[in-house]
Amino acid sequence: MADVQEEHKMLDVLILAAGLGTRMRSDLAKVLHRLDGRPLINHVSRTAAALAPQKIYVVIGHQGEDVRSAVLEEFDSNDAVFVEQKRQLGTGDAVNAARDLLANQDSTLLVLSGDVPMIRPETLAGLVQHHHGHRGRGAACTILTVKLMDPTGYGRIVRNPEGLFEKIVEQKDANETERQIHEINAGIYAFDSTKLFDALAKVQNDNAQGEYYLTDVPSLLREAGEDVAIFQHGDAYEVEGVNNRAQLADLERLLNSRTVKRQMLDYGVSFIDPKNVYISEGAKIGRDTVIHPNVTIEGESEIGDGCTIHSGTRITNSRIGHGVEIRDNCLIQDSEIGNSCTVGPMAHLRGHAVMRSNAKVGNFVELKKTTLGSGSKASHLTYLGDATVGENTNIGAGTVTCNYDGKNKHETKIGDNVRIGSDTMLVAPVEVGDGAVTAAGSVVIENVEADSLVAGVPAKVKKKLSESKSV
Ligand code: UD1
Ligand code: CA
Repeated sequence: MADVQEEHKMLDVLILAAGLGTRMRSDLAKVLHRLDGRPLINHVSRTAAALAPQKIYVVIGHQGEDVRSAVLEEFDSNDAVFVEQKRQLGTGDAVNAARDLLANQDSTLLVLSGDVPMIRPETLAGLVQHHHGHRGRGAACTILTVKLMDPTGYGRIVRNPEGLFEKIVEQKDANETERQIHEINAGIYAFDSTKLFDALAKVQNDNAQGEYYLTDVPSLLREAGEDVAIFQHGDAYEVEGVNNRAQLADLERLLNSRTVKRQMLDYGVSFIDPKNVYISEGAKIGRDTVIHPNVTIEGESEIGDGCTIHSGTRITNSRIGHGVEIRDNCLIQDSEIGNSCTVGPMAHLRGHAVMRSNAKVGNFVELKKTTLGSGSKASHLTYLGDATVGENTNIGAGTVTCNYDGKNKHETKIGDNVRIGSDTMLVAPVEVGDGAVTAAGSVVIENVEADSLVAGVPAKVKKKLSESKSV
């Protein structure tokens, strides 16, 4: 990132995120609604952090504690400062809530909206650079604008006959002529902080919404003889605000289609039906992997080369190696799958499941906090929880690790080359040694020694396999 602070005033960022978002018709504050699986506010705060400002201030109010927690999920508490706006009296009032902290900073203040999530750090760096360089001295305020085919709902940029900034008029206050203007205010500005707070003190609420508009500040500055600049940007989507659920869904679709296209063109991933998949921006997918329709890949998942992911599967925050086949309708969460494994159909890797290379998990198998060693198989109707399974072991159909005694969870350890017979109940804590066999229907309540065969309820040793082999 270009160093926007070089030879200029230091940069601070203020993010407005106190509003309710009435138009969402939701019990959840707007900035907590998710795009690409992350709250809107987190998109903005991550982008702000990419500029490496002195500090990031977030104005919170409605569901403020939840907004604070959301931001702090991705931030150190030292890197963000939260400012409370007690009553939501408008965007001008929201900025004013930070007066005590910012008015005497003498910094460049970049003001962002918590509901404009797609804005890129490069664009903001361009805005700040334009602001600092304007007319050789720097502007008092620079407004990010864009021309929209349909400007409905946005504040319009009114320019004077020379094409210079005159004022911003909100949709609800605009007359017929002003409503015809296509250039809109993105709600993103760079300010000289001292001049901003001086002008803000003069803002009134005599408008259609009875609010203190931040959008009145630029014209107040201009009237006071200050330099107000405009930085017009080309990409309309990037400055699109989320005010209702239809806009949120539009951005989700746009972001997803861009992600899928990038996976195809830059990383060599095939999609049978690119419109019917959901792939998070943070996912990494390898070359020649084929993704079938109705697949969802969430979070920071990684998938290797040459994998096949069949329909109806959802993968969340998991790591998958090369040459893996995930058959239809699997749910894989916080898990790790090694090279050349096969999973499903209809398998559930519930969390902290690890499959080492060439392992296989089949129909209706659930794994939780379990490691399945290299070449081991659990092919049908099985629950393995809190278990460690060695290499080349076969877990028969209907096996259950009874890991919960009603109070506590216990572990099961199964060695290498073990054959667990169908319908075996392994009552944890219990261990089954290398090369052992459990007969069908065994209820194993005591440790099974290596190379022995157990059977029955409760399971008893029937013979030592190593001895019988040597006869
Ligand atoms: C605002 C601008 C409009 C611009 C648009 C771009 C004003 C008056 N209008 O309109 O010119 O085209 O953004 O997206 O600024 N907020 C607070 N406290 C408040 C009110 C709002 O923190 O008291 C926050 C909201 O949480 C939101 C942001 O400020 O993140 C913008 O508020 P919103 O009500 O969405 O403004 P718009 O009507 O979209
Ligand atoms: Ca808005």
